[in-house]
Amino acid sequence: MKQIIKTADLEAAVKEAKQQQLEIGLVPTMGALHEGHLSLIERALKENDLVVVSLFVNPIQFNNKEDLEKYPRTIEADLKLITDLESRTEKKASALLAFTPTVDEMYPQGEPKEVYHFGPVEEVMEGPRRPGHFSGVAVVVRRLFDLAQPKRAYFGEKDYQQIAVIRSLLEQIKYPIELIPCPIVRADDGLALSSRNMRLSPAARQMAPAINATLEQAAEMAEYEEVDDVKEWVLDTLASWHEVNDCPDGLQFEPEYFEIVDAITLQPIAEWAEAEKNGAVGCIAVWLDGVRLIDIVKF
Ligand code: PAF
Repeated sequence: MKQIIKTADLEAAVKEAKQQQLEIGLVPTMGALHEGHLSLIERALKENDLVVVSLFVNPIQFNNKEDLEKYPRTIEADLKLITDLESRTEKKASALLAFTPTVDEMYPQGEPKEVYHFGPVEEVMEGPRRPGHFSGVAVVVRRLFDLAQPKRAYFGEKDYQQIAVIRSLLEQIKYPIELIPCPIVRADDGLALSSRNMRLSPAARQMAPAINATLEQAAEMAEYEEVDDVKEWVLDTLASWHEVNDCPDGLQFEPEYFEIVDAITLQPIAEWAEAEKNGAVGCIAVWLDGVRLIDIVKF
């Protein structure tokens, strides 16, 4: 692994790789790496000649200052995880570049003025609740695409709506990049791995797997219940969890939304038959212990 901080150095490395006709895989991350990220990097190492992993907490995608400040930053540990992974992976890639720019390096002109719009895929779920978030994601991802010029880019399905937004970005900018969505990696107790999990107290961490357990039950209910009934059941089950379970420290789940949507258009469905072509996905955001957790279930 080689760490690169300057965009000019990344550009030079990419130029050289392109001259040798190497295929580049890009894994964009905000650091605080966990097994979910490592699974993306591992796949990229197997499918490309050169892998660029970016570790950059992108300030312009945070619409909440406190969230940005509290976002975990564990760069030394991240670099060690990448080095260890690289040495134990049977890989095609001959090199891995860990790109760890500063904010000034990424945005030398200050906060970028460009704004992206994605229409219906951003008008649901996270979109209205985090104004400017997806545009901020698109700005940094496009910048990373320009710098790394990847053939393939890897994104985790936990941020399901983000994948739809990146798909739309690629259609808009017409870059011939293969978008590779990768499955969620879960802890043994079912909790979707997330950098935010490290902010949960031990008691909250014990409760958190109930989110996935509820979604799994919802998938079973979908065999015989209507869409609206499944939605209502998930929201009620989590909102009243503390009434029927032993929850320490006054902890309780506060669901922000649970939507059942078409897996590609992300438009909410009212009948299961509406998602016959693309499939249906349930997407949830829940607050627990001051931490906002998201997860999905495929129906
Ligand atoms: O999913 C993330 O971690 C971020 O949104 C991304 C894609 C790295 C852009 O900052």
